[in-house]
Amino acid sequence: MEVPHIYVEQTLALIKPDCIHNSEEIEDIILRSGFAIIKKRRVHLTPEQASDFYAEHYGKLFFPSLVAYMSSGPIIAMALSRDRAISYWRELIGPTNTYKARNTHPDSLRAIYGTDDQRNALHGSDSFSSSQREIRFFFPDSIVEPVAVGQAAKD
Ligand code: PPS
Repeated sequence: MEVPHIYVEQTLALIKPDCIHNSEEIEDIILRSGFAIIKKRRVHLTPEQASDFYAEHYGKLFFPSLVAYMSSGPIIAMALSRDRAISYWRELIGPTNTYKARNTHPDSLRAIYGTDDQRNALHGSDSFSSSQREIRFFFPDSIVEPVAVGQAAKD
């Protein structure tokens, strides 16, 4: 008989410089939302490291201000784990733009903790391949694979 599985994924979450003073509150929300924080690190990125992390956006108009902002103060990087971690964390943080988040997803974390259209409080990986790259960026020795967890079959 086939046993149904759920897949426990990992995603990378960043608490950005404008939100660092709320980090304890955010971590509490993360835990209450069913995630495990499996790795955590406080780091102050250099401009070169921030450029590397956001390399896919190189050439876009906002790239220089994004790099300046992300290297302006300490951030907290976390590898989060739960089922559907990538999409669930993106759902919880809400739209990228803080003003849009406030209009369309007022309960989202960016609506609550974001500052403006640049300083949007939090980051989340947007795909499985991004989560692998981003988690390894901050936690180089990580093994980032979804783990199937069997559920007891119901009668
Ligand atoms: S895009 O062009 O659709 O791929 O960009 P987007 O996904 O909206 O945003 C990618 C990251 O760039 C940040 N961003 C900005 N930073 C500074 N200024 C401006 N105007 C700006 N626009 C977008 C945005 O916050 C995203 O960062 P993360 O860390 O992924 O949230």
